[in-house]
Amino acid sequence: MAKKINKPDVYTLTVTAEIEVYASVEKLPKADQILMAKAKEAVENAYAPYSHFKVGAAVRLSNGKIILGNNQENAAYPSGLCAERVAIFQAGALYPQAAVKAIAICCQSVLKPVLEPVTPCGACRQSIAEYESRSGVPIRLIMTGQKGSVYVANSIHTLLPLLFNGALLGKK
Ligand code: THU
Repeated sequence: MAKKINKPDVYTLTVTAEIEVYASVEKLPKADQILMAKAKEAVENAYAPYSHFKVGAAVRLSNGKIILGNNQENAAYPSGLCAERVAIFQAGALYPQAAVKAIAICCQSVLKPVLEPVTPCGACRQSIAEYESRSGVPIRLIMTGQKGSVYVANSIHTLLPLLFNGALLGKK
Protein backbone atom coordinates (compact mmCIF):
# COMPACT_ATOMS: atom_id res chain seq x y z
CA MET A 1 0.00 0.00 0.00
CA ALA A 2 1.27 3.48 -0.89
CA LYS A 3 2.32 5.55 2.07
CA LYS A 4 0.11 8.57 2.62
CA ILE A 5 2.04 11.85 2.87
CA ASN A 6 0.25 14.39 5.02
CA LYS A 7 0.38 18.02 3.93
CA PRO A 8 0.89 20.49 6.77
CA ASP A 9 -2.21 22.48 7.77
CA VAL A 10 -0.48 25.74 6.91
CA TYR A 11 2.46 26.49 4.65
CA THR A 12 3.79 29.41 2.66
CA LEU A 13 3.52 29.47 -1.09
CA THR A 14 6.22 31.80 -2.38
CA VAL A 15 5.46 33.55 -5.65
CA THR A 16 8.44 34.97 -7.52
CA ALA A 17 8.69 37.05 -10.66
CA GLU A 18 11.71 37.84 -12.80
CA ILE A 19 11.82 40.97 -14.90
CA GLU A 20 14.79 41.99 -17.05
CA VAL A 21 15.66 45.66 -16.72
CA TYR A 22 17.40 47.36 -19.65
CA ALA A 23 19.02 50.76 -19.08
CA SER A 24 17.30 52.26 -22.11
CA VAL A 25 15.34 51.38 -25.25
CA GLU A 26 18.61 51.48 -27.24
CA LYS A 27 19.94 48.53 -25.18
CA LEU A 28 17.00 46.26 -26.09
CA PRO A 29 17.25 43.47 -28.68
CA LYS A 30 16.49 44.87 -32.15
CA ALA A 31 12.98 43.33 -32.47
CA ASP A 32 11.95 44.90 -29.15
CA GLN A 33 13.36 48.27 -30.21
CA ILE A 34 11.28 48.13 -33.39
CA LEU A 35 8.12 47.27 -31.47
CA MET A 36 8.76 50.05 -28.94
CA ALA A 37 9.27 52.54 -31.78
CA LYS A 38 5.78 51.56 -33.00
CA ALA A 39 4.32 52.05 -29.50
CA LYS A 40 5.93 55.52 -29.48
CA GLU A 41 4.23 56.23 -32.80
CA ALA A 42 0.90 55.08 -31.33
CA VAL A 43 1.19 57.27 -28.21
CA GLU A 44 1.04 60.37 -30.40
CA ASN A 45 -2.57 59.55 -31.37
CA ALA A 46 -3.83 58.79 -27.85
CA TYR A 47 -7.01 60.61 -26.91
CA ALA A 48 -6.51 61.61 -23.28
CA PRO A 49 -8.08 65.06 -22.74
CA TYR A 50 -9.12 64.18 -19.15
CA SER A 51 -6.07 62.53 -17.60
CA HIS A 52 -3.49 64.11 -19.95
CA PHE A 53 -1.71 60.77 -19.60
CA LYS A 54 -1.13 59.23 -23.01
CA VAL A 55 -0.31 55.55 -23.41
CA GLY A 56 0.82 53.77 -26.57
CA ALA A 57 0.90 50.04 -27.26
CA ALA A 58 2.14 47.92 -30.14
CA VAL A 59 1.38 44.22 -30.47
CA ARG A 60 3.48 41.80 -32.55
CA LEU A 61 1.61 38.81 -33.94
CA SER A 62 2.86 35.40 -35.05
CA ASN A 63 1.99 36.35 -38.66
CA GLY A 64 4.44 39.27 -38.47
CA LYS A 65 1.78 41.99 -38.31
CA ILE A 66 2.13 44.85 -35.82
CA ILE A 67 -1.09 46.29 -34.41
CA LEU A 68 -1.18 49.66 -32.63
CA GLY A 69 -3.37 50.96 -29.83
CA ASN A 70 -3.58 53.97 -27.56
CA ASN A 71 -5.84 55.05 -24.72
CA GLN A 72 -9.21 56.44 -25.71
CA GLU A 73 -10.89 58.45 -22.97
CA ASN A 74 -14.49 59.54 -22.55
CA ALA A 75 -16.32 62.33 -20.68
CA ALA A 76 -18.11 59.49 -18.88
CA TYR A 77 -14.81 58.25 -17.44
CA PRO A 78 -15.32 54.46 -17.26
CA SER A 79 -16.37 54.36 -20.91
CA GLY A 80 -12.79 54.89 -22.06
CA LEU A 81 -10.28 52.13 -22.72
CA CYS A 82 -6.57 51.59 -22.05
CA ALA A 83 -4.03 51.42 -24.87
CA GLU A 84 -3.17 47.76 -24.22
CA ARG A 85 -6.76 46.59 -24.60
CA VAL A 86 -7.37 48.77 -27.66
CA ALA A 87 -4.35 47.11 -29.30
CA ILE A 88 -4.94 43.53 -28.21
CA PHE A 89 -8.68 43.57 -29.01
CA GLN A 90 -7.95 45.05 -32.43
CA ALA A 91 -5.43 42.24 -33.01
CA GLY A 92 -8.06 39.67 -31.98
CA ALA A 93 -10.63 41.31 -34.24
CA LEU A 94 -8.38 41.43 -37.31
CA TYR A 95 -6.32 38.25 -36.96
CA PRO A 96 -8.12 35.78 -34.69
CA GLN A 97 -5.89 32.90 -35.80
CA ALA A 98 -2.59 34.63 -35.01
CA ALA A 99 -0.87 34.38 -31.63
CA VAL A 100 0.15 37.53 -29.79
CA LYS A 101 3.93 37.23 -29.37
CA ALA A 102 4.78 40.55 -27.72
CA ILE A 103 3.40 43.88 -26.59
CA ALA A 104 5.37 47.09 -26.13
CA ILE A 105 3.95 49.83 -23.91
CA CYS A 106 5.05 53.43 -23.38
CA CYS A 107 3.55 56.68 -22.13
CA GLN A 108 3.72 60.42 -22.38
CA SER A 109 2.42 62.59 -19.56
CA VAL A 110 1.79 66.30 -19.80
CA LEU A 111 1.39 66.87 -16.05
CA LYS A 112 4.47 65.06 -14.81
CA PRO A 113 7.32 63.35 -16.69
CA VAL A 114 7.21 59.58 -16.23
CA LEU A 115 10.76 58.38 -15.75
CA GLU A 116 9.95 54.81 -14.79
CA PRO A 117 8.36 52.03 -16.86
CA VAL A 118 4.58 52.12 -17.15
CA THR A 119 3.04 48.71 -16.45
CA PRO A 120 -0.45 47.57 -17.50
CA CYS A 121 -3.38 48.02 -15.12
CA GLY A 122 -5.08 44.99 -13.60
CA ALA A 123 -7.86 44.80 -16.19
CA CYS A 124 -5.33 44.93 -19.04
CA ARG A 125 -3.25 42.19 -17.39
CA GLN A 126 -6.35 39.98 -17.26
CA SER A 127 -7.13 40.75 -20.91
CA ILE A 128 -3.57 40.02 -22.02
CA ALA A 129 -3.73 36.75 -20.04
CA GLU A 130 -6.78 35.71 -22.06
CA TYR A 131 -4.79 35.96 -25.30
CA GLU A 132 -1.82 34.11 -23.82
CA SER A 133 -4.04 31.22 -22.75
CA ARG A 134 -5.99 31.32 -26.03
CA SER A 135 -2.86 30.66 -28.12
CA GLY A 136 -0.70 28.90 -25.53
CA VAL A 137 2.17 31.17 -26.59
CA PRO A 138 3.81 33.29 -23.86
CA ILE A 139 3.49 37.03 -24.44
CA ARG A 140 6.63 39.12 -24.03
CA LEU A 141 5.92 42.48 -22.38
CA ILE A 142 8.25 45.42 -23.02
CA MET A 143 7.46 48.45 -20.86
CA THR A 144 8.99 51.89 -20.58
CA GLY A 145 8.13 55.42 -19.46
CA GLN A 146 8.90 58.61 -21.33
CA LYS A 147 12.58 57.81 -21.10
CA GLY A 148 14.91 55.75 -18.94
CA SER A 149 14.84 52.08 -18.18
CA VAL A 150 12.76 49.33 -19.77
CA TYR A 151 11.18 46.32 -18.08
CA VAL A 152 10.88 43.08 -20.03
CA ALA A 153 8.73 40.18 -18.80
CA ASN A 154 8.55 36.87 -20.66
CA SER A 155 4.94 36.07 -19.88
CA ILE A 156 1.85 37.75 -18.45
CA HIS A 157 2.16 35.27 -15.55
CA THR A 158 5.10 37.39 -14.37
CA LEU A 159 2.81 40.39 -13.90
CA LEU A 160 -0.29 38.47 -12.88
CA PRO A 161 0.73 35.47 -10.80
CA LEU A 162 -2.02 33.09 -9.69
CA LEU A 163 -4.27 34.48 -12.39
CA PHE A 164 -7.78 33.16 -12.81
CA ASN A 165 -7.53 29.90 -14.73
CA GLY A 166 -10.24 29.83 -17.40
CA ALA A 167 -9.79 26.05 -17.62
CA LEU A 168 -11.69 25.87 -14.31
CA LEU A 169 -14.82 26.72 -16.25
CA GLY A 170 -14.76 23.30 -17.90
CA LYS A 171 -15.53 22.46 -21.52
CA LYS A 172 -18.86 22.05 -23.19
N1 THU B 1 -3.92 53.78 -19.10
C1 THU B 1 -3.57 52.97 -20.14
O1 THU B 1 -3.92 53.21 -21.30
N2 THU B 1 -2.82 51.89 -19.85
C2 THU B 1 -2.37 51.56 -18.62
O2 THU B 1 -1.70 50.55 -18.47
C3 THU B 1 -2.68 52.40 -17.48
C4 THU B 1 -3.58 53.54 -17.73
C5 THU B 1 -4.72 54.96 -19.40
C6 THU B 1 -6.14 54.96 -18.89
C7 THU B 1 -6.43 56.42 -18.81
O3 THU B 1 -6.85 56.88 -20.08
C8 THU B 1 -5.09 57.06 -18.47
O4 THU B 1 -4.11 56.10 -18.82
C9 THU B 1 -4.93 57.45 -17.01
O5 THU B 1 -5.23 56.39 -16.18
